[in-house]
Amino acid sequence: MSIRNNLYVSIGLAVALGLVSSAGVLASAEKETSPTAEMLQSWGAAEVVANEPADAMFKHQTHVVDLEFDCDSCHPDTFQKKRGAAEANGDYTMAALEEGQYCGICHDGDTAFGVKEPDTCVTCHGSDMTPPKTIVFTEPLKAVIFDHELHTEDMGLECSSCHSALFKMKMGHAEEKPEEFTMEALYAGKYCGACHNGDDAFASNTKCTTCHIGVKGFERLFGKAKSEAGAHH
Ligand code: HEC
Ligand code: HEC
Ligand code: HEC
Ligand code: HEC
Ligand code: HEC
Ligand code: HEC
Repeated sequence: MSIRNNLYVSIGLAVALGLVSSAGVLASAEKETSPTAEMLQSWGAAEVVANEPADAMFKHQTHVVDLEFDCDSCHPDTFQKKRGAAEANGDYTMAALEEGQYCGICHDGDTAFGVKEPDTCVTCHGSDMTPPKTIVFTEPLKAVIFDHELHTEDMGLECSSCHSALFKMKMGHAEEKPEEFTMEALYAGKYCGACHNGDDAFASNTKCTTCHIGVKGFERLFGKAKSEAGAHH
């Protein structure tokens, strides 16, 4: 915890300094015709920090502003300057990280905390990494059941068949966008529909009640009081 707190304090300081120095760059860039590499770097950092990808586990702010890594520690050899590019490569996995690729060029337990120790999972993934046994979605429609144990242990699916291309390892993430988490999306092969297409698993336009346990099913699982209070999961 104290490491985290220290980080936040130093991020705060670094942000304050970063803003000051980028204002300086702007002011002096008007005067000077050829900005130094150093000035470009801090301008780039300020811009990139302002564009922090929403809910990403990776933060430019920590790595560039606080830890002072140069852009070329990562770009373009390890990562493209394009959000989602690594994911699109199809090999952006823990196995690759463990072999020293992507984040693993530094997160090897030496240059930075490693990716194999159970206590570090939460630092990047933001959860305790215990797959919940049963998930019940309540948005946009109450109630849809999903069973981790069944999908992994009984059906032998790998974690990577769902994480993180179809679902982030974060409870409630899909439900944050109820307008996108719909049957139409499933029919188009997204979310559960990547498998529930009639080929890999029963189709999403059949057996409605296998997934939809309804309000009654929800009450059976969680009790009526909680259900009426609109309890989540
Ligand atoms: C420690 C590694 C690291 C460093 C250092 C770093 N980046 Fe990145 N950068 C990333 C990662 C990871 C991504 C996301 C790539 C992906 O999703 O495939 C990214 C993405 C970007 C993007 C695309 C953002 C978007 O929303 O599409 C830009 C622009 C970028 N970086 C600029 C910079 C600049 C400028 C610097 C130096 C000031 C810098 N980066 C330093 C790792 C780094
Ligand atoms: C340095 C950051 C980092 C740490 C530490 C880390 N991961 Fe990951 N993890 C990633 C990235 C990056 C991906 C690939 C992108 C994605 O799936 O979002 C990933 C993907 C995964 C996946 C998806 C399937 C796969 O194999 O790629 C699982 C499961 C996973 N991590 C489990 C863990 C566990 C368990 C730990 C702790 C032992 C851990 N991770 C520690 C960054 C990290
Ligand atoms: C160029 C080296 C380098 C690369 C590449 C790198 N990191 Fe880091 N990262 C560090 C260092 C150094 C720290 C400081 C912590 C430490 O020393 O253990 C750190 C800290 C972190 C932290 C804790 C601080 C925070 O931001 O919350 C997270 C999370 C993290 N890295 C995730 C990632 C992920 C995810 C990737 C890949 C997308 C990645 N890092 C790539 C060097 C790197
Ligand atoms: C493979 C599992 C699955 C099957 C089968 C399934 N659904 Fe869904 N359904 C979902 C998920 C996941 C959501 C989004 C989460 C939520 O609403 O709780 C959803 C959401 C919905 C919604 C609200 C969003 C929207 O699209 O309007 C309706 C209505 C719906 N389903 C009707 C049906 C009907 C009717 C059937 C049968 C023809 C069916 N579903 C079959 C998983 C399924
Ligand atoms: C068939 C798809 C599927 C497979 C396979 C799968 N998961 Fe998940 N997982 C999900 C869904 C769906 C969620 C909920 C995401 C959401 O709410 O947006 C989730 C959420 C999670 C969470 C978030 C828990 C929390 O408290 O935030 C973790 C951790 C997780 N899964 C770990 C794993 C691990 C480890 C494996 C492999 C043993 C695995 N999952 C395999 C679909 C899957
Ligand atoms: C990676 C592929 C995959 C994804 C993604 C996936 N499933 Fe499944 N699911 C399967 C397979 C395979 C079966 C078993 C074969 C069958 O019943 O057709 C299954 C079976 C089921 C069952 C029946 C369980 C039983 O009791 O027999 C339910 C309910 C279900 N899935 C719901 C969901 C929901 C809801 C989602 C999305 C949140 C989802 N699944 C995502 C592959 C997947």
